[in-house]
Amino acid sequence: MKKMFLKLVLLCLWRLDGVFGAEVKIVLKGDSVTLNSDPTEMKDDDQIQWRFRFKNTLIAEINKRDDRFTVYDDVLGGRFRDRLKLDNQTGSLTITNITMKHAGRYKLEINNKSLDFDLIVIVSVKERDSITLDSTLTEMKNDDEIQWSFENTLIAEINKRVDRFTVYDEVLDGRFRDRLKLDNQTGSLTITNTTMSLAGRYELEIKDKSLDFFLVVTVPVMEGDSVTLNPDLTEMKDDDWMQWRFEGTLIAGILKEINSITVRDDVLDGRFRDRLKLNKQTGSLTITNITMKHTGYYELWINTLSSSSYIRLIVYARLPVPVISSNSSQCSSSSSSSSCSLVCSVVNVSHVTLSWYKGSSLLSSISASDLSISLSLPLEVEYQDKNTYSCVLNNPISHQTQHLDITQLCHTCSVHCCGPTEAVIRLVLSALVGVATVILVVYDIRSRRAEGDQAHIHTSGSA
Ligand SMILES: *[C@@H]1O[C@H](CO)[C@@H](O)[C@H](O)[C@H]1NC(C)=O
Ligand SMILES: *[C@@H]1O[C@H](CO)[C@@H](O)[C@H](O)[C@H]1NC(C)=O
Ligand SMILES: *[C@@H]1O[C@H](CO)[C@@H](O)[C@H](O)[C@H]1NC(C)=O
Ligand SMILES: *[C@@H]1O[C@H](CO)[C@@H](O)[C@H](O)[C@H]1NC(C)=O
Ligand SMILES: *[C@@H]1O[C@H](CO)[C@@H](O)[C@H](O)[C@H]1NC(C)=O
Ligand SMILES: *[C@@H]1O[C@H](CO)[C@@H](O)[C@H](O)[C@H]1NC(C)=O
Ligand SMILES: *[C@@H]1O[C@H](CO)[C@@H](O)[C@H](O)[C@H]1NC(C)=O
Ligand SMILES: *[C@@H]1O[C@H](CO)[C@@H](O)[C@H](O)[C@H]1NC(C)=O
Repeated sequence: MKKMFLKLVLLCLWRLDGVFGAEVKIVLKGDSVTLNSDPTEMKDDDQIQWRFRFKNTLIAEINKRDDRFTVYDDVLGGRFRDRLKLDNQTGSLTITNITMKHAGRYKLEINNKSLDFDLIVIVSVKERDSITLDSTLTEMKNDDEIQWSFENTLIAEINKRVDRFTVYDEVLDGRFRDRLKLDNQTGSLTITNTTMSLAGRYELEIKDKSLDFFLVVTVPVMEGDSVTLNPDLTEMKDDDWMQWRFEGTLIAGILKEINSITVRDDVLDGRFRDRLKLNKQTGSLTITNITMKHTGYYELWINTLSSSSYIRLIVYARLPVPVISSNSSQCSSSSSSSSCSLVCSVVNVSHVTLSWYKGSSLLSSISASDLSISLSLPLEVEYQDKNTYSCVLNNPISHQTQHLDITQLCHTCSVHCCGPTEAVIRLVLSALVGVATVILVVYDIRSRRAEGDQAHIHTSGSA
């Protein structure tokens, strides 16, 4: 009966976005989040209240008329203590240093209207990496019983009394096989070699307490490449359904019962146009020719409206090859003739590190954060240095290398530079000989020397 009802609800909602009418905020554990009030709403006689789902607890209040701004951060056992900031201009509420205990629905009440926010607190792990879900026990007591479950399926259990430590890694089609490690001292659970199908809600139960972990699997991908978001479902059954959403908007779904397959690539300014492929057997979604606009959280709903899981796509730009150039002053400045100043540079990059290597050892490096900027990194080498230097640009999934050819970029003034008299004599001599080719050769040699300073050297890259 309940199932029937869900189906009906689902059918009605199938083509709608924002199913639950709340703005969803996804935030990493330890980060901050700002819940925005509608700035156009804040008037002089405003009353604003912020409430948290648990017993509809009042956590912050603004009374513009009395010029009163109050945060109640001692409520609920102090879980908000020193974590709330109320913007007295806009009424927005910032929660800092988020923990799992801050997850849930927040309600903004402003002049008898209300706005809902769903805060999803996540721990994030890169595909193939390991993550430890910390039980927060330093040591277990002798009669402790601990249970770990994933989306309501038991996956690990500790019974200290009978000294039993069990992982059930064959459940759910074996998606946890050889991937679970239970710490028999603390009860913490480590997931190794994480796959996309392990994204979701983990629950730890110790006696009467429980702790939720919302695991999001991060998948790094390069601009222009393709990625398949794979929930690792074995074949979908006759009454299964599933949906993929991007930032809250439905982009693809399967409703087996009525044999409906939906791919909506026209939504969200068409950023998915001709780029989506939905596998109707497995429900996996392939996105081709990825662009920066595909960075974000992909939400997967399978067979239940009570929970969903997220895969986070991080798109990295293709890397340019770094350029090494000479930064030596011209030969005319006679000083410091034994070393050569070089600079390695790249323009318009973000999330990268630029480094100088001597052989395989790192000499120096510089990083760019999320802003698109230009980077340059200097290096001093001896003219006679026979070492192999290289300049490497890398982001978390790829790198580009430029090898330094010292003989091309660095040359001593004493050896190569010729005084003005010598130059005149040469010219006069060649004129006397009257052979055009000689002039050409000299000209060629001199211009090559001049260009040497700017020369680009041979290049190799890899992705
Ligand atoms: C708003 O906050 C700022 C800084 O916290 C403070 O200087 C200012 O006086 C406050 N304004 C009101 C109206 O309370
Ligand atoms: C964040 O909260 C944790 C406890 O939940 C605390 O140990 C840590 O010091 C806090 N970090 C900051 C920067 O306040
Ligand atoms: C809010 O509702 C109460 C009664 O429910 C009313 O007295 C009050 O005037 C309303 N306030 C605003 C700003 O509309
Ligand atoms: C706990 O794990 C360690 C290493 O995995 C093992 O040597 C030890 O015997 C285990 N202790 C119990 C009580 O199972
Ligand atoms: C990680 O899992 C993948 C399959 O999901 C497997 O091919 C690979 O061998 C595993 N790597 C390790 C180190 O276990
Ligand atoms: C990939 O997308 C870009 C625009 O973002 C487009 O210019 C290019 O033609 C596409 N490449 C392929 C192979 O579809
Ligand atoms: C080139 O060298 C000069 C001084 O010799 C220095 O001020 C400048 O920053 C260097 N340029 C780069 C790009 O490192
Ligand atoms: C920097 O890169 C962005 C996109 O990656 C591009 O839109 C912009 O034009 C670039 N700016 C320069 C100066 O190359």
